[in-house]
Parts: sequence; C-alpha cells; structure tokens
Amino acid sequence: MMYSEKVLDHFRNPRNVGEIEDADGVGTVGNPVCGDMMSIYIKVEDEKIADIKFRTFGCGAAIATTSMTTELAKGMDLDEAMKITREKVADELDGLPPVKMHCSNLAADALHEAIKDYRKKKGEIMD
Ligand code: FES
Repeated sequence: MMYSEKVLDHFRNPRNVGEIEDADGVGTVGNPVCGDMMSIYIKVEDEKIADIKFRTFGCGAAIATTSMTTELAKGMDLDEAMKITREKVADELDGLPPVKMHCSNLAADALHEAIKDYRKKKGEIMD
C-alpha cells in the first residue's frame, strides 16, 4: 500500500489535535467499517469556523484526513464547510489507497455533525 508524502506528513505531524473545552459545536462519529471513533470541536465566529480541533481513536489514514480537513475548514464559512467531502479531502492529500477511503468518512462526517450541533444549539435546526 502506498501513501502520498502529504498523507505521511499529516500523519506524522497532525494539525489541530486536541479538544476545545468551550466548543460551540461537537461532532462525534464512529466508523461502522472498523469501529474507530472521531470527535471534532469547533468555535464559530460570524458564521465562520474560527477554531477547530480533533481527537481520534482511529488509524493513520483517519488521522491524516482529519488533520487535512481541519486545515481546510479553519476560517471557512459554515455553509462551505458543510460541502467538504471525503473525496475533496483525499484529493488535497494527493489520494488515498482505495481500501482506506472509508477512513476519510470520519473527518467529513464529524465536521458536519459539529456544525449541525452548533446550529441545533442556536435553535436553527431541530433534531
Ligand atoms: Fe478505522 Fe481507518 S481503519 S478509520
């Protein structure tokens, strides 16, 4: 299995690892394929992602894709961030081996859940 240099870089030096204690939104998802877990925390200012952090109990590909996702999402408008897909993240990383594509679901899904959580807290959407 071959990983791109970018995947290896984000795996070795993951960006935005940690938790935000007073987060405006938190998204936690599990991967049904492997049972791994991911949490993403966001701070929102002016409908933009002002800060973002993640914690994962996941594989190297999950760490790398989430690290890249948080870099892409930081500073982004919430509506735009809702459109980040696993394909987009994999492209930014110069590709992922096909058997590891499911790992990148965690990042995009947790990000979208965090934004939904923020909107729910604000009363913008119901359950
Ligand atoms: Fe579980 Fe990659 S094997 S997230």
